[in-house]
Amino acid sequence: MNDLSFERRAARAASLSDGQPLYRQLADHYRRAIGNGALRAGDRMPSMRAFMQRHGVSLATATESYRVLERAALIEARPRSGYFVRMPPAALPAALEPDPAQLPGEAQFVGIHSAISTLVSKFQRFPDALNLGGATACPELYPTDALRQAAMRALRREPTLLTSAGPDLGDPALRAVIARRALDGGIEIGADEIIMTHGGIEAVNLALRAVTQPGDTVAVESPCFFGLLQVLESLGLRALEIPASPSTGLAIDALSFALQHHRGIKAVVVVPNLQNPLGSVMPDAHKAALVELCSHAGVALIEDDPYRELVDDEPAPKSLKAWDTDGTVIHCTSFNKTLAPGMRIGWINGGRWHPRVRMLKFAQSRHNQQLSQVVLAGFLETGAYARHLQRLRDSLRCQRERMALSIAAAFPEGTRFTPPRGGLFFWIELPRGLSSAALFDAALDDGIRIMPGTVFSNTGRFDHFIRLSCPSTDLDLLDDAARRVGRLARRMSGHRGADA
Ligand SMILES: Cc1ncc(COP(=O)(O)O)c(C=O)c1O
Repeated sequence: MNDLSFERRAARAASLSDGQPLYRQLADHYRRAIGNGALRAGDRMPSMRAFMQRHGVSLATATESYRVLERAALIEARPRSGYFVRMPPAALPAALEPDPAQLPGEAQFVGIHSAISTLVSKFQRFPDALNLGGATACPELYPTDALRQAAMRALRREPTLLTSAGPDLGDPALRAVIARRALDGGIEIGADEIIMTHGGIEAVNLALRAVTQPGDTVAVESPCFFGLLQVLESLGLRALEIPASPSTGLAIDALSFALQHHRGIKAVVVVPNLQNPLGSVMPDAHKAALVELCSHAGVALIEDDPYRELVDDEPAPKSLKAWDTDGTVIHCTSFNKTLAPGMRIGWINGGRWHPRVRMLKFAQSRHNQQLSQVVLAGFLETGAYARHLQRLRDSLRCQRERMALSIAAAFPEGTRFTPPRGGLFFWIELPRGLSSAALFDAALDDGIRIMPGTVFSNTGRFDHFIRLSCPSTDLDLLDDAARRVGRLARRMSGHRGADA
């Protein structure tokens, strides 16, 4: 390892840009060395003094770098001996790819409402349960103080923000800054081609209403976010579930087959980046092929993209909209996962259906409230958003790494999962025959809320899967919770080996 040149590069990168702090870059340097085998389990890490000399950093930076690695369970301190690379636990096998011979089944009217209502009423009976079933990070990872102060400043400047009606499409300054930021995702649209919505779910709702009539068929990924199934059911639409890969997302060949054999498909809904629940990220070639396929078939492609900025990759992946040349793609996204779940701000570009989306938004809910939009516009204008995202991604990565170790250590043989490329979900396949609904009940009795696979499909195909999220910066808490769920799963699957 050429540490001195690394040191210079890291210091330069940190001083030139809004790059990561030095301790984080150094931790990443060792994380890569452990990942690629240059440092192996049991190897001694440099002493603090050697680390400081080698990298020319202070004791505080060295300590903080080791703290990051320790929290990610990559190294451990041994009394009076120093730090050592940890023994990796037995890794679990990766999730299975969908069978290429598996053809999409029949389109079905969705019946998910009662299953969701049952879950919700069970949640309500255990309001203090630790929530490993949610889709947002923990409150301390969002910039509460900065947003609160910005809201007070905005109200002082414009006291009528809460009492006057806002513009129909949303705050113009916000739409302008969003249009500029959208370029990062490869999206070239003007501010007047953006409509602000009540979160991503309203955007998806409007998109579906713009391109379908009750009774129509919509192709969706299988498994998919249960909120989408709820919207389909509410609108009287049929779902045609298309297999999706845990690593690359929607199976393009299967969709192509479906488009040829199901003439009535009116729309395809896809989460291209960090699919919920799979955590998959579509490769660029698949994104290009998907847009081309839908454009050729004349079918609306509804892109639901709330997680793009949570992908770990640098630079972040592009949105499907980046490949759109004829308005086939309706782009929907939201700030609820990345910045402020409480503000419920999302936006939509309706592609060639934009005028209809605009009319439907007015009919459905009028304009969004102004205060949140003004606060958001101010936050996005500065470098604060980029810094916040970096911190959020870093923290989620630590949380995921620790949780992945706990899952691998505690879940029964026959469990599979593919670590996601960002975000906070794990989609876990349990040994066949183990009911996720029963595990959900047992975990709730033990004070932990998980999401059973039953609600991520209309087909029953995922009844032995669960989605676990890692919603806390307290890694020991996550570790303990994952191990407790794993222990319950072991008991239910008849493995009574060493209690992890
Ligand atoms: C894929 C996907 N789309 C849409 C939503 C809803 O987003 P919002 O909370 O912004 O309405 C979620 C929330 O979990 C989601 O996972």
